[in-house]
Amino acid sequence: MVKIHLLHENKSIECEPGLNLYEVLSREGFMDAPCGGTGLCGKCKVRIDSQEAIPVSETQAAFFTPEQIAAGWRLACLWEVKTDMTVELPQQFQMSNIISQGYMKEFVPDPSALLPGGGADAAQNCYGAAIDIGTTTVVASLVDLNSGREIESLACLNSQKVFGQDVISRIHYAASNPRGTEILQKTIIKDLKNLLNELCRRHDLIADNIYAVSVAANTTMIHLLAGINPEGMGKSPYTPAFQGALSLKGLDLGLPVSPYCDVYCLPTVSSFIGGDITAGVLACSLENANEKTLFIDIGTNGEIVLVDDERFCACSCAAGPALEGMNISCGVRATPGAIEDVFIAGDTVRYATIGNEAATGICGSGLLAAIAEMRRAGIIHKSGRLQAHPLVEVVDGKKRFMVDAGRSLYLTQQDIRQVQLAKGAILSGIYALLEAVGMKAAELHRVIVAGQFGAHLKAESLIGSGLLPAEWSEVISYAGNTSKSGALICLLSQPERAVIETLARNIEYLELSELEGYKDLFIKCMQF
Ligand code: FES
Repeated sequence: MVKIHLLHENKSIECEPGLNLYEVLSREGFMDAPCGGTGLCGKCKVRIDSQEAIPVSETQAAFFTPEQIAAGWRLACLWEVKTDMTVELPQQFQMSNIISQGYMKEFVPDPSALLPGGGADAAQNCYGAAIDIGTTTVVASLVDLNSGREIESLACLNSQKVFGQDVISRIHYAASNPRGTEILQKTIIKDLKNLLNELCRRHDLIADNIYAVSVAANTTMIHLLAGINPEGMGKSPYTPAFQGALSLKGLDLGLPVSPYCDVYCLPTVSSFIGGDITAGVLACSLENANEKTLFIDIGTNGEIVLVDDERFCACSCAAGPALEGMNISCGVRATPGAIEDVFIAGDTVRYATIGNEAATGICGSGLLAAIAEMRRAGIIHKSGRLQAHPLVEVVDGKKRFMVDAGRSLYLTQQDIRQVQLAKGAILSGIYALLEAVGMKAAELHRVIVAGQFGAHLKAESLIGSGLLPAEWSEVISYAGNTSKSGALICLLSQPERAVIETLARNIEYLELSELEGYKDLFIKCMQF
């Protein structure tokens, strides 16, 4: 066996010599790339720390500057692991960049009621974990159950990604393989085990010190965690095997926790409105909202909840991966070096990157900012077509809007179409909800944007790109990872569990595909 030490991750991976470095890293959840390891996309860059000369092929050289080559940057998918090595991951795959914190309402923590024997036997070393399982990332927070204090959060990529990027492909995998559900369950349990073990190791705890776990996740992730086949959610009428909250035994799942530890899964509403969304609604205290409020979590799926007095109405729309920087020619996740804002003045483009680092690509917020600016400058037609302009180059007969010609960063017509699909899905979902409750866009008091995507986003970009209605420019706020916040609240309070379960029962789910005229609305909403 040989050892791969990951710089900055405090972790080493062992593997057989002769394996492909990209395959080892992606199997461990540290990397994923759109070309799947075929040397085409250039998204698997790693820095190999070695005293010896590292060969560089012509294919590799095309993806790097001479300085990067000199510093040891290479494509992982073209590298065979032969001996022990040290590897630095690119910023977008470093786990410290995953947003683990979000807005959390004030509440009174009282975990003792949730512990075996009222927590009497737990004495001093009494800890719990609040977990957010996303389709892409997993976050776990260690919490002191005596004080309610959150001690540390760790994150990793969801290793189920090798079975598909989105929930639909994982449902399909579970449904079409005899052991599919079991394999996916084992995969997520392994991620949770790694995170919990690492948290315990860092804080000198043992598994027996973990007395309670709460999990917020979308409905598919909860099914897979519980080992329940999600097949029914993969086809119309999209029926989950169960709805509501779920309580599991930590030891039955194979988690490194006390034998008394229960795992509370926050309640789901439907196949596509899960515990991550009810968590967000709870964390933002929307059960008490006396204002007309729209809560939206934008990711591969956009989940939207509209609150109007006592009424909660929700829908889910397939936004696709574009707004997460995927399936975009120069797209990257929102990590240092990603272009997060774009300005066009005449024939010049200026931009800002996360952390003011050298630009590595364009993340979702940069993408929307660029689209908003291109619309303003007349570079994109209402239909989405790129227009002739000094900033638009034609390469191999195809138009490209050049964001930074020196670094070869650009947006293609295809990239703009991807954003249009996301815009069509989200905006049509919003209008369908407004219609369902009989509300006009201008009547809304508050829009809360939750999730990884919102963190670097300007209201001007959301409005200017047409993703949200123009009337909302003054009412948008960002809430961060409210899924984890909701899990934390439910870890620490029995009364709040009752609140979220009532909330989940009260949320009406609107299935967009069954609405009359929905296709026309979608197409209309794709227009800029
Ligand atoms: S994985 Fe795409 S180039 Fe290596």
